[in-house]
Amino acid sequence: MTEKREYKDDYPDKTLYIPGPTEVREDVIEEMSQPMFGHRMDRMTDLYTTIVEDTKEFLGTDNEVIILTGSGTEFMESSILNLVDENVLVTTCGSFSERQANVAERLGKTVDTLEYEWGQAVKPEDVRERLEESDTEYDVVTCVMNESSTGVRNPIEEIGDVVAEFEDTYFVVDAVSALGGDLVEIDDHNIDVIFTSVQKAFAMPPGLAVCVVSDDAYERELESDSASWYGGFQRSLDYYDRKGQTHSTPAIPVMLAYRKQMKHMLEEGHEARDERHREMAEYTREWAREHFDMFPEEGYESQTVSCIENTQDIDVAATIDAVSEEYDFVFSNGYGSALGEQTFRIGHMGEHDLESIKELTDAIEDVADL
Ligand SMILES: Cc1ncc(COP(=O)(O)O)c(C=O)c1O
Repeated sequence: MTEKREYKDDYPDKTLYIPGPTEVREDVIEEMSQPMFGHRMDRMTDLYTTIVEDTKEFLGTDNEVIILTGSGTEFMESSILNLVDENVLVTTCGSFSERQANVAERLGKTVDTLEYEWGQAVKPEDVRERLEESDTEYDVVTCVMNESSTGVRNPIEEIGDVVAEFEDTYFVVDAVSALGGDLVEIDDHNIDVIFTSVQKAFAMPPGLAVCVVSDDAYERELESDSASWYGGFQRSLDYYDRKGQTHSTPAIPVMLAYRKQMKHMLEEGHEARDERHREMAEYTREWAREHFDMFPEEGYESQTVSCIENTQDIDVAATIDAVSEEYDFVFSNGYGSALGEQTFRIGHMGEHDLESIKELTDAIEDVADL
Protein backbone atom coordinates (compact mmCIF):
# COMPACT_ATOMS: atom_id res chain seq x y z
CA MET A 1 0.00 0.00 0.00
CA THR A 2 1.25 3.50 -0.77
CA GLU A 3 1.52 5.54 2.40
CA LYS A 4 0.43 9.18 2.52
CA ARG A 5 3.33 11.51 1.70
CA GLU A 6 2.53 15.07 2.66
CA TYR A 7 2.56 17.48 -0.29
CA LYS A 8 5.09 20.21 0.35
CA ASP A 9 5.43 23.70 -1.06
CA ASP A 10 9.12 23.68 -1.80
CA TYR A 11 9.57 21.59 -4.93
CA PRO A 12 12.18 23.00 -7.31
CA ASP A 13 10.90 23.92 -10.77
CA LYS A 14 11.94 21.40 -13.40
CA THR A 15 11.94 21.89 -17.16
CA LEU A 16 9.94 19.05 -18.66
CA TYR A 17 11.33 17.06 -21.58
CA ILE A 18 9.15 14.06 -20.85
CA PRO A 19 6.54 12.87 -23.37
CA GLY A 20 3.96 15.01 -21.59
CA PRO A 21 2.97 16.91 -19.60
CA THR A 22 5.27 19.42 -21.14
CA GLU A 23 6.24 23.04 -20.52
CA VAL A 24 3.34 25.53 -20.32
CA ARG A 25 3.77 29.24 -20.99
CA GLU A 26 3.57 31.49 -17.95
CA ASP A 27 0.70 33.60 -19.33
CA VAL A 28 -1.26 30.40 -20.03
CA ILE A 29 -0.83 29.21 -16.46
CA GLU A 30 -1.89 32.61 -15.17
CA GLU A 31 -5.19 32.37 -17.05
CA MET A 32 -6.28 29.65 -14.64
CA SER A 33 -6.32 31.86 -11.57
CA GLN A 34 -9.48 33.80 -12.33
CA PRO A 35 -12.61 33.95 -10.16
CA MET A 36 -14.92 31.07 -11.01
CA PHE A 37 -18.04 31.42 -13.12
CA GLY A 38 -20.93 29.11 -13.90
CA HIS A 39 -20.86 26.62 -16.71
CA ARG A 40 -24.33 27.73 -17.86
CA MET A 41 -23.52 31.44 -18.01
CA ASP A 42 -23.20 33.31 -21.30
CA ARG A 43 -19.54 33.74 -20.53
CA MET A 44 -19.14 29.97 -20.75
CA THR A 45 -20.68 29.97 -24.23
CA ASP A 46 -18.18 32.65 -25.25
CA LEU A 47 -15.34 30.55 -23.87
CA TYR A 48 -16.39 27.15 -25.21
CA THR A 49 -17.38 28.29 -28.70
CA THR A 50 -14.11 30.22 -28.95
CA ILE A 51 -11.94 27.24 -28.07
CA VAL A 52 -13.88 24.84 -30.29
CA GLU A 53 -13.86 27.10 -33.36
CA ASP A 54 -10.22 28.14 -32.83
CA THR A 55 -9.25 24.47 -32.64
CA LYS A 56 -11.00 23.73 -35.95
CA GLU A 57 -9.19 26.66 -37.50
CA PHE A 58 -5.82 25.57 -36.12
CA LEU A 59 -6.25 21.98 -37.28
CA GLY A 60 -7.68 23.08 -40.63
CA THR A 61 -10.63 20.73 -40.37
CA ASP A 62 -14.30 20.98 -41.33
CA ASN A 63 -15.09 18.08 -39.01
CA GLU A 64 -16.62 18.66 -35.60
CA VAL A 65 -14.54 19.23 -32.47
CA ILE A 66 -15.38 18.10 -28.94
CA ILE A 67 -13.37 19.32 -25.95
CA LEU A 68 -14.18 17.31 -22.88
CA THR A 69 -12.88 17.24 -19.34
CA GLY A 70 -10.82 14.09 -19.02
CA SER A 71 -7.65 12.70 -20.45
CA GLY A 72 -7.04 11.14 -23.86
CA THR A 73 -7.99 7.70 -22.59
CA GLU A 74 -11.60 8.91 -22.40
CA PHE A 75 -11.78 8.91 -26.20
CA MET A 76 -10.00 5.54 -26.45
CA GLU A 77 -13.02 4.23 -24.63
CA SER A 78 -15.84 6.31 -26.08
CA SER A 79 -14.83 5.98 -29.73
CA ILE A 80 -15.10 2.18 -29.32
CA LEU A 81 -18.45 2.45 -27.56
CA ASN A 82 -19.81 4.89 -30.13
CA LEU A 83 -18.68 3.15 -33.30
CA VAL A 84 -18.09 -0.55 -32.66
CA ASP A 85 -21.09 -2.78 -32.74
CA GLU A 86 -19.12 -5.99 -32.63
CA ASN A 87 -15.73 -6.23 -34.33
CA VAL A 88 -12.72 -3.99 -34.13
CA LEU A 89 -9.26 -4.35 -35.64
CA VAL A 90 -6.65 -2.80 -33.38
CA THR A 91 -3.16 -2.29 -34.82
CA THR A 92 -0.59 -2.63 -32.05
CA CYS A 93 3.09 -1.63 -31.93
CA GLY A 94 3.69 -0.60 -28.32
CA SER A 95 2.11 0.08 -24.98
CA PHE A 96 -0.55 2.65 -25.90
CA SER A 97 -1.86 0.81 -28.93
CA GLU A 98 -1.99 -2.33 -26.76
CA ARG A 99 -3.98 -0.31 -24.25
CA GLN A 100 -6.47 0.44 -27.01
CA ALA A 101 -6.95 -3.31 -27.56
CA ASN A 102 -7.34 -3.85 -23.84
CA VAL A 103 -9.94 -1.07 -23.57
CA ALA A 104 -11.99 -2.54 -26.42
CA GLU A 105 -11.84 -6.03 -24.89
CA ARG A 106 -13.05 -4.68 -21.56
CA LEU A 107 -15.97 -3.08 -23.33
CA GLY A 108 -16.98 -6.54 -24.53
CA LYS A 109 -16.06 -6.06 -28.18
CA THR A 110 -14.52 -8.75 -30.35
CA VAL A 111 -10.97 -7.55 -30.82
CA ASP A 112 -8.59 -8.72 -33.50
CA THR A 113 -5.10 -7.32 -33.48
CA LEU A 114 -2.57 -6.67 -36.19
CA GLU A 115 0.57 -6.84 -34.10
CA TYR A 116 4.03 -5.42 -34.67
CA GLU A 117 7.10 -5.75 -32.54
CA TRP A 118 7.80 -2.75 -30.34
CA GLY A 119 9.81 -0.30 -32.45
CA GLN A 120 8.19 -1.34 -35.72
CA ALA A 121 5.55 0.74 -37.49
CA VAL A 122 2.13 -0.32 -38.76
CA LYS A 123 2.20 -0.81 -42.54
CA PRO A 124 -0.72 0.24 -44.75
CA GLU A 125 -0.34 -2.80 -47.03
CA ASP A 126 -0.70 -5.16 -44.03
CA VAL A 127 -3.90 -3.37 -43.03
CA ARG A 128 -5.24 -3.76 -46.56
CA GLU A 129 -4.30 -7.44 -46.65
CA ARG A 130 -6.01 -8.09 -43.31
CA LEU A 131 -9.17 -6.22 -44.32
CA GLU A 132 -9.30 -8.00 -47.68
CA GLU A 133 -8.57 -11.48 -46.41
CA SER A 134 -10.47 -11.54 -43.16
CA ASP A 135 -13.98 -13.00 -43.05
CA THR A 136 -14.79 -10.50 -40.31
CA GLU A 137 -16.51 -7.22 -41.15
CA TYR A 138 -14.73 -4.70 -38.96
CA ASP A 139 -16.70 -1.73 -37.70
CA VAL A 140 -13.52 0.11 -36.84
CA VAL A 141 -9.77 0.00 -37.45
CA THR A 142 -7.68 1.81 -34.84
CA CYS A 143 -4.13 3.10 -35.09
CA VAL A 144 -1.93 5.17 -32.81
CA MET A 145 -0.31 8.09 -34.65
CA ASN A 146 2.62 8.41 -32.30
CA GLU A 147 3.42 5.37 -30.17
CA SER A 148 4.89 7.28 -27.22
CA SER A 149 6.36 4.11 -25.68
CA THR A 150 8.61 3.40 -28.69
CA GLY A 151 8.83 6.77 -30.48
CA VAL A 152 7.26 5.40 -33.66
CA ARG A 153 5.22 7.65 -35.96
CA ASN A 154 2.78 5.47 -37.86
CA PRO A 155 1.79 6.43 -41.43
CA ILE A 156 -1.82 7.11 -40.44
CA GLU A 157 -2.46 9.11 -43.63
CA GLU A 158 -1.77 6.08 -45.85
CA ILE A 159 -3.58 3.75 -43.46
CA GLY A 160 -6.60 6.08 -43.57
CA ASP A 161 -6.53 5.95 -47.38
CA VAL A 162 -6.59 2.14 -47.18
CA VAL A 163 -9.46 2.02 -44.69
CA ALA A 164 -11.38 4.39 -47.01
CA GLU A 165 -11.58 1.51 -49.52
CA PHE A 166 -13.75 -0.43 -47.04
CA GLU A 167 -17.03 1.39 -46.96
CA ASP A 168 -18.49 0.31 -43.62
CA THR A 169 -15.27 0.45 -41.65
CA TYR A 170 -14.44 3.57 -39.65
CA PHE A 171 -10.94 4.78 -38.86
CA VAL A 172 -10.01 5.90 -35.33
CA VAL A 173 -6.65 7.49 -34.56
CA ASP A 174 -5.09 8.02 -31.14
CA ALA A 175 -3.02 11.17 -31.75
CA VAL A 176 -2.15 11.80 -28.10
CA SER A 177 1.45 13.11 -28.01
CA ALA A 178 1.42 14.12 -31.70
CA LEU A 179 -1.47 16.40 -32.63
CA GLY A 180 -0.40 20.03 -32.59
CA GLY A 181 3.28 19.12 -33.11
CA ASP A 182 2.99 16.96 -36.21
CA LEU A 183 0.70 18.19 -38.92
CA VAL A 184 -1.94 15.81 -40.21
CA GLU A 185 -4.50 16.63 -42.91
CA ILE A 186 -7.42 15.10 -41.08
CA ASP A 187 -10.15 15.61 -43.68
CA ASP A 188 -8.07 14.30 -46.60
CA HIS A 189 -7.42 10.83 -45.21
CA ASN A 190 -10.73 9.42 -44.08
CA ILE A 191 -9.92 9.93 -40.41
CA ASP A 192 -13.31 9.54 -38.74
CA VAL A 193 -12.07 10.11 -35.21
CA ILE A 194 -8.77 11.57 -34.03
CA PHE A 195 -8.16 12.52 -30.42
CA THR A 196 -5.47 13.95 -28.18
CA SER A 197 -4.85 15.16 -24.65
CA VAL A 198 -3.97 18.80 -24.15
CA GLN A 199 -0.92 18.24 -21.93
CA LYS A 200 1.14 16.98 -24.87
CA ALA A 201 1.96 18.91 -28.05
CA PHE A 202 -0.78 21.48 -27.33
CA ALA A 203 1.37 22.48 -24.30
CA MET A 204 -1.52 23.12 -21.96
CA PRO A 205 -2.10 22.05 -18.37
CA PRO A 206 -3.68 18.55 -18.24
CA GLY A 207 -7.40 18.09 -17.78
CA LEU A 208 -8.98 18.16 -21.22
CA ALA A 209 -9.18 15.80 -24.17
CA VAL A 210 -9.90 16.90 -27.73
CA CYS A 211 -11.65 14.78 -30.32
CA VAL A 212 -12.27 15.56 -34.01
CA VAL A 213 -15.28 13.67 -35.38
CA SER A 214 -16.38 13.22 -38.99
CA ASP A 215 -20.03 13.52 -40.07
CA ASP A 216 -19.96 9.83 -40.93
CA ALA A 217 -18.86 8.90 -37.43
CA TYR A 218 -21.59 11.11 -35.96
CA GLU A 219 -24.20 9.39 -38.15
CA ARG A 220 -22.83 5.98 -37.34
CA GLU A 221 -23.25 6.60 -33.62
CA LEU A 222 -26.94 7.33 -34.14
CA GLU A 223 -27.40 3.65 -35.06
CA SER A 224 -25.75 2.44 -31.85
CA ASP A 225 -27.58 1.47 -28.65
CA SER A 226 -24.40 1.22 -26.64
CA ALA A 227 -22.84 4.64 -27.26
CA SER A 228 -21.02 6.29 -24.40
CA TRP A 229 -23.04 8.74 -22.32
CA TYR A 230 -20.18 10.97 -21.22
CA GLY A 231 -18.12 10.62 -24.38
CA GLY A 232 -21.02 10.26 -26.81
CA PHE A 233 -20.28 12.29 -29.94
CA GLN A 234 -23.95 12.97 -30.45
CA ARG A 235 -24.61 14.23 -26.91
CA SER A 236 -21.60 16.55 -26.97
CA LEU A 237 -22.15 17.87 -30.49
CA ASP A 238 -25.92 18.34 -30.13
CA TYR A 239 -25.36 20.25 -26.90
CA TYR A 240 -22.81 22.40 -28.65
CA ASP A 241 -25.21 23.01 -31.48
CA ARG A 242 -28.05 24.07 -29.18
CA LYS A 243 -26.20 25.87 -26.38
CA GLY A 244 -22.55 26.28 -27.31
CA GLN A 245 -21.57 24.60 -24.05
CA THR A 246 -20.55 21.17 -22.73
CA HIS A 247 -23.13 18.66 -21.52
CA SER A 248 -21.69 18.59 -17.98
CA THR A 249 -19.50 20.84 -15.85
CA PRO A 250 -16.09 21.24 -17.49
CA ALA A 251 -12.69 22.10 -15.98
CA ILE A 252 -13.28 25.82 -16.53
CA PRO A 253 -9.79 27.00 -15.44
CA VAL A 254 -8.14 24.65 -17.93
CA MET A 255 -10.47 25.90 -20.66
CA LEU A 256 -9.36 29.45 -19.87
CA ALA A 257 -5.77 28.32 -20.26
CA TYR A 258 -6.73 26.54 -23.49
CA ARG A 259 -8.19 29.72 -24.95
CA LYS A 260 -4.96 31.60 -24.32
CA GLN A 261 -2.68 28.86 -25.62
CA MET A 262 -4.78 28.23 -28.73
CA LYS A 263 -4.39 31.94 -29.60
CA HIS A 264 -0.61 31.45 -29.39
CA MET A 265 -0.90 28.35 -31.57
CA LEU A 266 -2.98 30.19 -34.16
CA GLU A 267 -0.50 33.01 -34.19
CA GLU A 268 2.36 30.60 -34.88
CA GLY A 269 0.28 28.57 -37.33
CA HIS A 270 0.03 24.84 -37.79
CA GLU A 271 2.65 24.64 -40.56
CA ALA A 272 5.21 26.68 -38.64
CA ARG A 273 4.58 24.63 -35.52
CA ASP A 274 5.05 21.46 -37.53
CA GLU A 275 8.30 22.81 -38.99
CA ARG A 276 9.63 23.74 -35.52
CA HIS A 277 8.88 20.23 -34.26
CA ARG A 278 10.52 18.68 -37.34
CA GLU A 279 13.66 20.70 -36.67
CA MET A 280 13.81 19.56 -33.03
CA ALA A 281 13.20 15.92 -34.02
CA GLU A 282 15.88 15.98 -36.73
CA TYR A 283 18.42 17.50 -34.38
CA THR A 284 17.61 14.97 -31.63
CA ARG A 285 17.90 12.05 -34.06
CA GLU A 286 21.25 13.28 -35.30
CA TRP A 287 22.50 13.69 -31.74
CA ALA A 288 21.18 10.25 -30.81
CA ARG A 289 22.89 8.58 -33.77
CA GLU A 290 26.16 10.29 -32.93
CA HIS A 291 26.16 8.94 -29.36
CA PHE A 292 23.69 6.06 -29.31
CA ASP A 293 21.12 4.86 -31.84
CA MET A 294 17.43 5.40 -32.50
CA PHE A 295 15.05 2.70 -31.28
CA PRO A 296 12.29 2.97 -33.94
CA GLU A 297 12.45 1.43 -37.34
CA GLU A 298 14.22 3.88 -39.65
CA GLY A 299 11.90 6.22 -41.51
CA TYR A 300 9.15 6.03 -38.86
CA GLU A 301 10.68 8.15 -36.09
CA SER A 302 8.33 10.38 -34.16
CA GLN A 303 8.36 14.15 -34.59
CA THR A 304 7.52 14.79 -30.92
CA VAL A 305 9.09 11.98 -28.85
CA SER A 306 12.50 10.48 -29.59
CA CYS A 307 13.07 7.02 -28.21
CA ILE A 308 16.82 6.46 -28.08
CA GLU A 309 18.45 3.06 -27.85
CA ASN A 310 20.93 2.90 -25.02
CA THR A 311 23.77 1.36 -27.04
CA GLN A 312 26.41 2.75 -24.61
CA ASP A 313 24.82 0.97 -21.70
CA ILE A 314 24.71 4.12 -19.59
CA ASP A 315 22.81 3.90 -16.30
CA VAL A 316 19.61 5.53 -17.56
CA ALA A 317 17.94 5.98 -14.17
CA ALA A 318 21.10 7.48 -12.62
CA THR A 319 21.61 9.81 -15.60
CA ILE A 320 18.03 11.06 -15.39
CA ASP A 321 18.44 11.71 -11.65
CA ALA A 322 21.75 13.51 -12.11
CA VAL A 323 20.44 15.71 -14.96
CA SER A 324 17.45 16.57 -12.81
CA GLU A 325 19.61 17.32 -9.79
CA GLU A 326 22.29 19.35 -11.58
CA TYR A 327 20.30 21.05 -14.34
CA ASP A 328 16.66 20.83 -13.23
CA PHE A 329 15.79 19.18 -16.56
CA VAL A 330 13.64 16.06 -16.61
CA PHE A 331 13.59 13.51 -19.40
CA SER A 332 12.23 9.95 -19.43
CA ASN A 333 13.49 6.45 -19.16
CA GLY A 334 12.23 3.80 -21.57
CA TYR A 335 8.69 2.61 -21.21
CA GLY A 336 7.95 -0.15 -18.69
CA SER A 337 10.29 -2.82 -17.46
CA ALA A 338 11.12 -4.05 -20.98
CA LEU A 339 12.51 -0.77 -22.29
CA GLY A 340 13.27 1.02 -18.99
CA GLU A 341 17.06 0.85 -19.21
CA GLN A 342 17.32 -0.28 -22.81
CA THR A 343 16.05 3.06 -24.13
CA PHE A 344 15.37 6.61 -22.94
CA ARG A 345 12.96 9.18 -24.30
CA ILE A 346 13.11 12.90 -24.98
CA GLY A 347 9.86 14.79 -25.46
CA HIS A 348 10.53 17.64 -27.90
CA MET A 349 7.05 18.98 -28.07
CA GLY A 350 4.84 21.96 -27.34
CA GLU A 351 6.78 25.13 -26.58
CA HIS A 352 10.29 23.70 -26.78
CA ASP A 353 12.62 24.85 -29.53
CA LEU A 354 16.00 23.86 -30.90
CA GLU A 355 17.83 25.89 -28.27
CA SER A 356 16.05 24.30 -25.34
CA ILE A 357 16.58 20.80 -26.76
CA LYS A 358 20.29 21.52 -27.20
CA GLU A 359 20.45 22.57 -23.55
CA LEU A 360 19.13 19.15 -22.60
CA THR A 361 21.45 17.16 -24.87
CA ASP A 362 24.42 19.20 -23.57
CA ALA A 363 23.38 18.35 -20.03
CA ILE A 364 23.11 14.63 -20.86
CA GLU A 365 26.54 14.72 -22.53
CA ASP A 366 27.99 16.36 -19.45
CA VAL A 367 26.43 14.02 -16.93
CA ALA A 368 26.93 10.78 -18.89
CA ASP A 369 30.41 11.85 -19.99
CA LEU A 370 29.68 11.29 -23.69
C1 LIG B 1 -0.16 7.57 -27.56
C2 LIG B 1 -0.87 7.75 -26.28
N1 LIG B 1 -2.14 7.36 -26.19
C3 LIG B 1 -2.84 7.53 -25.07
C4 LIG B 1 -2.29 8.08 -23.94
C5 LIG B 1 -3.10 8.28 -22.73
O1 LIG B 1 -3.33 9.64 -22.58
P1 LIG B 1 -3.91 10.24 -21.23
O2 LIG B 1 -2.89 9.98 -20.17
O3 LIG B 1 -4.12 11.68 -21.55
O4 LIG B 1 -5.20 9.50 -20.97
C6 LIG B 1 -0.95 8.48 -23.97
C7 LIG B 1 -0.30 9.06 -22.79
O5 LIG B 1 0.87 9.28 -22.73
C8 LIG B 1 -0.22 8.33 -25.18
O6 LIG B 1 1.04 8.73 -25.27
